[in-house]
Amino acid sequence: MAKMRVNGQALEFTADPAMPLLWALRDLANLTGTKQGCGSGQCGACTVIVDGNAALSCLVPLGSLEGADVTTVEGLASHPIVPALVAEEAVQCGFCTPGFVCALAALLQQSARPTAEQIDALPNRCSCGTQPRIRRAVERAAR
Ligand code: FES
Repeated sequence: MAKMRVNGQALEFTADPAMPLLWALRDLANLTGTKQGCGSGQCGACTVIVDGNAALSCLVPLGSLEGADVTTVEGLASHPIVPALVAEEAVQCGFCTPGFVCALAALLQQSARPTAEQIDALPNRCSCGTQPRIRRAVERAAR
């Protein structure tokens, strides 16, 4: 069992504490914006924000989240990175986008003007090759 706040709402999960947060969000809380890519911490598609930091939800067990504050892409609809990604046409197939939104929102919270190196250091990857556009979107959102 784990009680936490997800997008500002109190939620209690009674599932196996070893269940990855990713599955709990998608299958139990119906927050399907968070995507499963590799399932092993390699791609960043499952990124959410836990207590202000980007986290790979496929690797985070529910049991470690008692009292945590979790934000998913659904909770970031009004964040400036969203229109910036759209304006820079940084979305192609869109599968990686929710993870990027969370990772970039956390990065912008920690660094007002993230560098290209900071962006490239994120675990998130776009197989469509929009990385240069994503960098421009971060610059736009940081203005
Ligand atoms: Fe979690 Fe790829 S699904 S890092």
